Amino acid sequence: MSTIKFYSGETMPLEMHRVRVVQKLQLLPVEERLRTLRGAGSNLYLIPNRAIYMDMLTDSGVNAMSDDQVAAMMNADDAYAGSETYYKLEAKCREVFGFDYFLPAHQGRAAENLIATTWIKPGHIIPMNYHFTTTRAHFTLKGGRVVEILKDDGLIVNSDEPFKGDIDLDKLRAVIAEHGAENIPFVRIEAGTNLIGGQPVSLANIIAVEEICRSLGIKMLMDASLLQDNLYFIKQREPGCQDKSIRELMLEVCSHFDIFYFSARKLGFARGGGICLRTKEMWDDMKEFVPLYEGFLTYGGMSIREMAAITVGLDETLDEEIIAQGPTFITYMVEELHKRGIPVVRPAGGLGCHVDAGAFVPQIPGLQYPAAALCAAYYLAGGIRTMERGTLSEERDENGNEVIAHMELMRCAMPRRVFTLSQVNYAIDRLAWLWDNRHLIEGLRFVEEPNTLRFFVGRLEPVSDWQEKLAAAFRRDFPDSL
Ligand SMILES: Cc1ncc(COP(=O)(O)O)c(C=O)c1O
Repeated sequence: MSTIKFYSGETMPLEMHRVRVVQKLQLLPVEERLRTLRGAGSNLYLIPNRAIYMDMLTDSGVNAMSDDQVAAMMNADDAYAGSETYYKLEAKCREVFGFDYFLPAHQGRAAENLIATTWIKPGHIIPMNYHFTTTRAHFTLKGGRVVEILKDDGLIVNSDEPFKGDIDLDKLRAVIAEHGAENIPFVRIEAGTNLIGGQPVSLANIIAVEEICRSLGIKMLMDASLLQDNLYFIKQREPGCQDKSIRELMLEVCSHFDIFYFSARKLGFARGGGICLRTKEMWDDMKEFVPLYEGFLTYGGMSIREMAAITVGLDETLDEEIIAQGPTFITYMVEELHKRGIPVVRPAGGLGCHVDAGAFVPQIPGLQYPAAALCAAYYLAGGIRTMERGTLSEERDENGNEVIAHMELMRCAMPRRVFTLSQVNYAIDRLAWLWDNRHLIEGLRFVEEPNTLRFFVGRLEPVSDWQEKLAAAFRRDFPDSL
């Protein structure tokens, strides 16, 4: 239970942990935030952490660790080959996920590189519920083509559809009929589908996809980076799952896949990653690439301390009270914003609160990156760093043309166990101020545009002096406040 009924009648999130180590933060005055934003080319990735009050960029590698994780890190076995700490991690993955074979990788995208290197050949088609940026980049680099087969209501911003990450089975059948099962190395299902707002996939959909794939000899691949939130939603929302424990649900979900990879920067409250494989043959096919790209088979690019933290963190992902914290805080923020009329993705998903930038700043044309402009404006309004998930995060097509994203989202990530509820209330308050001043926000344009994953290091500028005007409006409304 991580929400509780108060005497006042309100139901509120309640932290089931206490804070034992803290980090000092600072909130710069709006004038300094404006200078910082300019210096960073309006790209929040390029802002130093010291200039940020609340870092809602991502949940990746920044979740708070537990006392048990930190203790385990002090007691790790240091060895290039054959570390006891590695064997404990391998055994934990077998126990928690139910696969016999495991290979380590230093993070999620490294696992994607190993999977693509092992199984994707030029001309291959990879159907998936929805792409993730690094997944598509790795699969495409190896000559594969990603085809998204999300069901249509997954892209409806505000709905009461509980499992927006589900695959459309008719689209899956159509892709297989068009390209042939022999050209499809696997179907990828991403748990807690990141780019559409951390939206979950149902167990029923996983089973239905597997039925189609098995009969045609197509492998099932799961990106489990956001599986802990997804499991929580299966238990909360899926008929027939309420009486099952998270451990049972985890094993049941995993049993439908041949290949299963995860970023431990998300799953397991740590850093690192890994790949679970169903057969020895698959393990043999992949294992030679691990020392080549990652490091020896018993560390795969991870430090022993990371491996020790993951081993304990994976156990914690089986505790419903622990994994409820993220979704509960996110739901609170989503519903509070919704009450104020601010457009957000509903129902709340995992990972973070997703603001619909397309509806927040409809005056900004798609090619002036509405979501990126909103993120820059929010930084000015509150010293809060969020992530653009829209057209700026897309790659140009093979002819160099811009691709307009399906959704223009500002993601306010909620790293697990990191923020207090008063910080979340501050984030809500500053966004409410921005909503009332949204007419001041205009677009951005590139001044330096990298060829790949441009959102990480590209530099932009505002199309006018709107950032100065927004900062001045903030100072007018908050003359004595940061
Ligand atoms: C669904 C998904 N897959 C893969 C990755 C890549 O993982 P990493 O950042 O550890 O490389 C991420 C990271 O955000 C993710 O959300």
